[in-house]
Amino acid sequence: MAVIASLASGDKLLLWQIDFLHFMGFVMVKILFIEHSGQEHPVEVAPGMSVMEAAINNAVPGIDADCGGFCSCATCHVFVNEQWLDKLPPLGSNEDAMLSLSPDRKENSRLSCQIPVVEALDGLVVTTPEFQF
Ligand code: FES
Repeated sequence: MAVIASLASGDKLLLWQIDFLHFMGFVMVKILFIEHSGQEHPVEVAPGMSVMEAAINNAVPGIDADCGGFCSCATCHVFVNEQWLDKLPPLGSNEDAMLSLSPDRKENSRLSCQIPVVEALDGLVVTTPEFQF
């Protein structure tokens, strides 16, 4: 608050504009989905949705999301590029249980419905498995 109070009025206007643009969805986050075949699908989405929703809304193949994002189907399984793993929220117990059912599970496996799109994930790279079960 002290930082904001010390800003010049022009700076305050800039901060307000950034908040407004973010609220209106004009701040976009880039995510690169790579299919098992190597086919790339770059998308840009607004923060606030999940990585699964980013895929579904952009018709990215390889993400089924049968349960609609309730962490109960594991058909949104992705492999997260190693450099992004430490930027994700921790693996939840339900997510871990669902992933344990997947024969394709790897150390970088995550359920994309459990990854919220935030600005810090701009540039995220995930690969889809050959099959969702
Ligand atoms: S969409 Fe069902 S577990 Fe992610």
